[in-house]
Amino acid sequence: MIAVASDHAGFELKQEIIRFLEEENFSFRDFGTDSTASCDYAVYAYKAAKAIQSGECVRGILVCGTGIGISIAANKMKGIRCAVCSDCFSAVLSREHNDSNMIAFGSRVVGPGLARLITQMWLDAGFQGQRHQRRIDQINDIENGQAPKEL
Ligand code: RB5
Repeated sequence: MIAVASDHAGFELKQEIIRFLEEENFSFRDFGTDSTASCDYAVYAYKAAKAIQSGECVRGILVCGTGIGISIAANKMKGIRCAVCSDCFSAVLSREHNDSNMIAFGSRVVGPGLARLITQMWLDAGFQGQRHQRRIDQINDIENGQAPKEL
């Protein structure tokens, strides 16, 4: 299950991403927002990220105007690794090296076609583990208020 959420600025692109997920037969849950009426991105980042934390969803896709506010909010939550991406290479590497479990788009940065392609490539890519796992463990150390364990 894929969590999807946006603020008002990201609403139209979120709907485009939902159409893509439907076309490709991905199961998803839409955490809002439901219109272009002004709202606050942290509220929607929290709802979608909570679904990752609970295990209801394995990945999440967030959209705001730049992708920045909503990703910062999501990344405050334990276990969330949200990458703001506007190119395919970063999106794939965020999976392979950083085990990103959420991706954030800026609706004012990427067009619908590119967002679809990035989404496809991000969903297809897998975490490579090995030395990258050690680095994820170090991020977890920081999250737990500890200095990252060095080699
Ligand atoms: C809303 O105008 C805008 O600030 C928001 O969508 C986002 O870009 C913030 O990072």
